[in-house]
Amino acid sequence: MDAPEWACLLDVLDLIKDKHDGTLAYRKSCRMMICGSCGMRMDGRAVLACKERMKPIVDAGHVPVISAMGNMPVLKDLVVDMSPFWGKIRSVKPWLDPGYDEVAEKERIVSQQQMNVIHKEALCIMCGCCVSECNSMEADPDFMGPAALAKGFRFVGDARDQADVERLNTLNEEHGIWDCTRCYFCNERCPKGVDPRDAIAKLGAESVKQGVDHDMGAKHAKWFIRSTETTGWLRETELVPKTQGIIEAIKQTGFALKLARKGKVPPPFPPHVAADVKEARALRELVGEQGRDGALGIVQGEHALGRIEFTEEAGARENAPEIQPGVEPPPAEG
Ligand code: SF4
Ligand code: SF4
Ligand code: FES
Repeated sequence: MDAPEWACLLDVLDLIKDKHDGTLAYRKSCRMMICGSCGMRMDGRAVLACKERMKPIVDAGHVPVISAMGNMPVLKDLVVDMSPFWGKIRSVKPWLDPGYDEVAEKERIVSQQQMNVIHKEALCIMCGCCVSECNSMEADPDFMGPAALAKGFRFVGDARDQADVERLNTLNEEHGIWDCTRCYFCNERCPKGVDPRDAIAKLGAESVKQGVDHDMGAKHAKWFIRSTETTGWLRETELVPKTQGIIEAIKQTGFALKLARKGKVPPPFPPHVAADVKEARALRELVGEQGRDGALGIVQGEHALGRIEFTEEAGARENAPEIQPGVEPPPAEG
């Protein structure tokens, strides 16, 4: 296929459709990475066709394989049925709940720092690339998935929304945040830098902070923290009773004994205390002193690190309480 040097994958598909095969089916609209229509796979990874420049690929002598996105039924060629994707997006309440009925007499100003908390999540164009690559969704099609969960944090983290606990309770249900396997494929593949896995981590941290911790996943995470701050190590033998409860732990005694016979279960007593346990405790204290609990404590991935640098420059960390998600902004001066 001859194409101009500037051609992207979408241009090449247009040329194929115009000159070779008018039946080729794919979606497109904006051609500028805004509408989210042209998600597909190139060499097995989800991409936006209008974002992928073809020249470097041609220069490398590579012939890419183009296919439809994963985790959604293929309708024709590169077109998938996105109903499962939209169903999950629609399950997240899509309006702000400010917690008051009357319009305030005074204007309520939301600072840039407060909006920075949800800056990445608000960039989502709903292309479905993250869902296409989600390993949890492949195993459990009912898993809410990265895009809907990122949308969930877009509201939980919004300072104007006061329905955090209600939202977190919903997102903590079966097939919710704790079913993510943390494979990070969604962060890797999102063409807009939304980093949905980070949003899920923020939802988890915010759930624990707000006491929405009935799910096994939350209990598991809490035990990790407790275990490492007390002994510097993860006390694995206590993980099952602490996470699943005593009755479930008793039911698994046979399995535990088999593991113990193979030397795969360390004896619970005396607990294994790390030589440098004071370091783990000091680290925990340091994090506590920063006052960045809940969603603000999550710093993951290079996009997130970039954002923290930005907020450092803007002096936002010195004003940490001001950017707590869900906390009403201080009254405007004057
Ligand atoms: S999070 Fe990223 S990959 Fe997923 S739908 Fe939104 S923009 Fe697309
Ligand atoms: S990190 Fe979680 S949500 Fe993202 S792709 Fe992996 S399993 Fe899916
Ligand atoms: S055509 Fe709109 S994002 Fe590619």
